[in-house]
Parts: sequence; structure tokens; C-alpha cells
Amino acid sequence: MKIISVVGARPNFMKIAPIHKELVKQSAISGQHSLRHLICHTGQHYDEKMSRIFFEDLELPKPDIYLGAGSGSHAEQTAKIMVEFEKVLLTEMPDLVIVVGDVNSTIACSLVAAKLGIKIAHVEAGLRSFDRTMPEEINRLLTDQLADYLFVTEKSGLDNLRREGIPEEKIFFTGNVMIDSLVHYLPKADKSNITEYFGLSPLDFVLVTLHRPSNVDSPDNVGKIISLLNSLAEKRKVLFPVHPRTKKNIDKLNLTINPDLILTEPLGYIDFLSLTKNAELIITDSGGIQEESTYLGIQCITVRDNTERPVTVEIGTNRLAGTNLAQVELEAMDVLNGRAKKRKIPELWDGHAAERIVEIILKDKG
Ligand code: UD1
Repeated sequence: MKIISVVGARPNFMKIAPIHKELVKQSAISGQHSLRHLICHTGQHYDEKMSRIFFEDLELPKPDIYLGAGSGSHAEQTAKIMVEFEKVLLTEMPDLVIVVGDVNSTIACSLVAAKLGIKIAHVEAGLRSFDRTMPEEINRLLTDQLADYLFVTEKSGLDNLRREGIPEEKIFFTGNVMIDSLVHYLPKADKSNITEYFGLSPLDFVLVTLHRPSNVDSPDNVGKIISLLNSLAEKRKVLFPVHPRTKKNIDKLNLTINPDLILTEPLGYIDFLSLTKNAELIITDSGGIQEESTYLGIQCITVRDNTERPVTVEIGTNRLAGTNLAQVELEAMDVLNGRAKKRKIPELWDGHAAERIVEIILKDKG
């Protein structure tokens, strides 16, 4: 059996890593030399700090195939990936393509596989923000229509897929592979000295990541975000690893930065995990960080009007503050004044999702 897993953008790497490890393990246990797993990197993210450092941190082998797609408009990026991935599939003719998450690489590779009649497994299926102005929502909806195996991380995903008419036999509630990586690498993250490096004390700083086009594509809004962070830096040290999309707009403005607001480059997986675990509060618009903070019981404010991960708000530490920055500041002060949300860990976020996924894939293929 030949499987190709697709990675393209930063949030994909920690989702494929546990699946890769489990496939290697199963292939060794069963002595199945006939099981081959290839990793295809589309090159959607290409910077050292957005890509290569994750392969090292997550002990992933060098990708077997690199498409070098790079940046561009949505159409350009998706099209470049499709053209290159079609050549790969025609040469390799795998039995299954595994895609994860909701980035442009996910839908691009799914479309190509579906038209060549190659089966698709979508890991992290069924999440919905119900906001079609988000490119990720379009990618999620379409990928789920094409997939043959839909592996779901939280119960809302099951409801969404059933409502959309996806046949029951394609849907599997397997848990969260991103939490598999978190559980596996937490001991390593505990040895990181990144908090000391930035002069931060555990549970006494605010960690920020913001990269959604709706928050950072207007220089005016980026200016307002920095002024909010300047004001929070009066109360706590604030660390903001800046995504390239966000940096482009920060660089355009001549901003005054509070010395206790530290702007830095994007960080690797292990160091960022250590910071997540040690933060008093996280302010983010990322999808994955809402889940990681819930698992770790760290307070999280999400700067979005909706979330496709409602379990993190319902039983987790996540608060949906909306994109009104005055409201974000109010919620932040609430947390810094000691009003913390308690959390339960969502069902099947136990570090074993990849095992369940691989078992289903291999059983079906017999
Ligand atoms: C993509 C995903 C988003 C995910 C995010 C995580 C889509 C539609 N969006 O958004 O779901 O949350 O990744 O990071 O797939 N750039 C660099 N270096 C890089 C990568 C990007 O400079 O290594 C620049 C690009 O030139 C571009 C901008 O950052 O101008 C955005 O990159 P892009 O891949 O289009 O989308 P993201 O905003 O990163």
C-alpha cells in the first residue's frame, strides 16, 4: 500500500508528524515492506522559520517530494499546487492521499486526487465557522465533500458532516492529532529555555499570535492592535512572534513599541509549546492555539467573531472576544485580574488519535 501525506503550511506539520510515526511503527511491526509512506511538501510555506524548523522539531524526515509552490493569490497558489501535485500522483499512483486541516494545500491536493480516482483521507474534518469570508471555511467545506475518510476532532464536526449529508460510513470520531504531538513533545518543551531567553517569568506574561487577513491585512488595524498590546505591556510583559503576513504591515508603519512588548520572528514548535504552557494569557486568531491552550488549561482570548472549534469555548479555556479591540482589552484585563475559566479536556484528546486513524486506514485496505 502506498500513501502520500500532504503538508504545506505551518499548522500542517504537527498534524502529519504523529501519523507518520504511527505508519512507520505499523509497517515495522507487521514487517509490511509493502506499506510505503511518502511526505509531499507543497512549499506553500517556505521560510526557514515557517517550515524547516518544524521538520527538525517534530523529527520528520526530509519531504520525499517538494512542489515549491510558494506564495501568490489564492488562485495562483492553489493552481500551482494542483499542477505540480497532478504530476506527482500520475507518477506515484498512491492508494491514498492524506490531507490535514484547511489550508490551500489541503483543497488543492484533494481536488487533484479526487479527479484521478485516488482515495482521500481528511484529518480534522467537519470543523465549521459558518463564515464563508474565511478562505479556510471554503477549503474545509470542499475537502469534506471530496474525502473518503473524514477523521473528526470534536463532536461539533460529527453534527456538521451529518447535516451536510456525508454518508455515516465515511465519518470517524478519532480525536485530535495536534494534541498527539503536544503530548509527545511536552517533555522536550519543558527543557526549552525560551522563557528565560526572552526574560519572561512563568505564568506572568501574555503571548500573542495574529495573522488572519481580517485582522492584519489593513495597516490601520495593525496599528490599533499594536496600541492595544502597548497598553497591555504596561501590566505584563507581552511576547509577539510575528507571522510574515503581519510583519509586512508592521514594517509599513512607523510605530512606537513599549519596551515590554517584545516583537520577534516566528518560533519553532518546541519553543512555542513551552511558551504556550507558561503563558498567563494567550491572545490569538489561530485555530490550533485555541485547542492547545484548552488542553493545557491556559487562558486564551480569540480575536475573531466565530470559531470552527466550539468545544474550546464550551468546555475549554477559550473566550471568543470578537474583533472589536476594546472588547479584547476588557477580556484581557478580566483574565489578568484573576478571573480564569476552568476547563475539561475534550473527548479523545488523549495523545492516541493517530493510532486510531492509522488502524482504520490499514484495516480498510486489508
Ligand atoms: C496560511 C493558511 C492559514 C493558516 C496559516 C498559518 C490558507 C488559505 N491559509 O495562511 O489557514 O492558519 O497559513 O500560518 O492556506 N509568507 C512568507 N513566508 C512563508 C509563508 C508565507 O513570507 O514561509 C508570506 C507570503 O508571501 C504571503 C503571506 O505570508 O504574503 C501569507 O502566506 P499564505 O500562505 O498565503 O497564507 P497565511 O496567511 O500564512
